[in-house]
Amino acid sequence: TNTTTYNIASIPGDGIGVDVTEAAEAVLNKLAETVGTFKFNFTTFDWSSKKYLERGWYMPEDGMQQLSKYDAIYFGAVGSPDVPDHISLWGLILPIRKYNNQYVNVRPTRVLPGTVAPLAQCQKRPQDIDWMIIRENSEGEYAGQGGTTHENSPDTIATEVAIFTRVGIERIMRFAFETAKSRPRKKLTMVTKSNAQRHGMVLWDKVFHEVAKEYEGVVEWDKMLVDAMTVRMVNKPESVDTIVATNLHADILSDLAAALAGSIGIAPSANLDPTRKYPSMFEPIHGSAPDIAGQGIANPVGAFWSAAEMVRWVGQGKLDKVADDFMQAIENVTSNPKTRTKDMGGSANTKETTEAVIKQIDVVF
Ligand code: NAI
Ligand code: MG
Repeated sequence: TNTTTYNIASIPGDGIGVDVTEAAEAVLNKLAETVGTFKFNFTTFDWSSKKYLERGWYMPEDGMQQLSKYDAIYFGAVGSPDVPDHISLWGLILPIRKYNNQYVNVRPTRVLPGTVAPLAQCQKRPQDIDWMIIRENSEGEYAGQGGTTHENSPDTIATEVAIFTRVGIERIMRFAFETAKSRPRKKLTMVTKSNAQRHGMVLWDKVFHEVAKEYEGVVEWDKMLVDAMTVRMVNKPESVDTIVATNLHADILSDLAAALAGSIGIAPSANLDPTRKYPSMFEPIHGSAPDIAGQGIANPVGAFWSAAEMVRWVGQGKLDKVADDFMQAIENVTSNPKTRTKDMGGSANTKETTEAVIKQIDVVF
């Protein structure tokens, strides 16, 4: 039989990023071995804050060319108490997203078995939280335009310019409608702040309505202002399915989503180039967690869920069932207090949870 090899660039980064990436690779190798039709070939890139402090750079000059040879990028986390966060973010993860045309950031949210949702109404009906947040990932408020004049003086001026392009808006709207269409409820909520921000956000609204015409009768949609959206996600979670929002708004809403679902340690994310010209990148949404780094207790579930989304993506439709079954194995592990980590009220450490998932892969497949 033919075996497909997927070449993966692995960037563990800092802190618990290193622990969860190691765990994800072990689980992916087990999955490939068990299914037998594909395998992963990981190449590790030692690009981290520790190395930055030693040598003054996060990525070498030809770093992007190196990454371009891979089918996908698996990323742990970047960030260290010894490096200002805007340096580490702009040194590694933001340039990778931008250069590789990863203009969509997909963030699924569900309450996995074993998670305790913090709010009573979310606890009562955990199935009410089943969301797919589509974040614009290449422009908007994180376009990186702006500057500082008269630095370190009482007259300092700083600008942070949000950029919205018709092309950028149209492609994210189309991706969001397609995502909504592929889900059982076929519902899309478009989030904006076009009452107060009257240029970029108004263009966002306008292009949304244009694209919406193509999905008439197929996808049901509505519109929300971002502040009201936070209230709706808390009070009426069942009324939400797919969400599309700008870079900043979706960044905030997806952290709220992760918190409502019970743990930042389980939330996944996919940075996609839908054109497939450049490699897409998969990463848990949590950071490097310096407060628990080096203790071996990080929850690897967000890393595993991200890995499942990577399997789905590289499989191009052929591995959807494998990804779903892999999620089932993960959920079997979170259901059991003995095999889930402390942040989920369990007693396992990273290694024990990882071994439990490896065992469950044998059970499920
Ligand atoms: P964080 O996500 O690293 O940690 C927030 C809290 O959640 C901490 O108490 C941490 O222990 C806990 N936590 C996070 N992931 C966990 C896991 N898998 N298992 C158990 N507990 C977990 O966010 P924080 O503290 O704001 O940032 C720490 C560093 O990470 C900063 O340097 C920040 O810039 C960076 N960061 C990097 C991201 C990335 O690489 N994409 C994303 C978010 C933050
Ligand atoms: Mg964030």
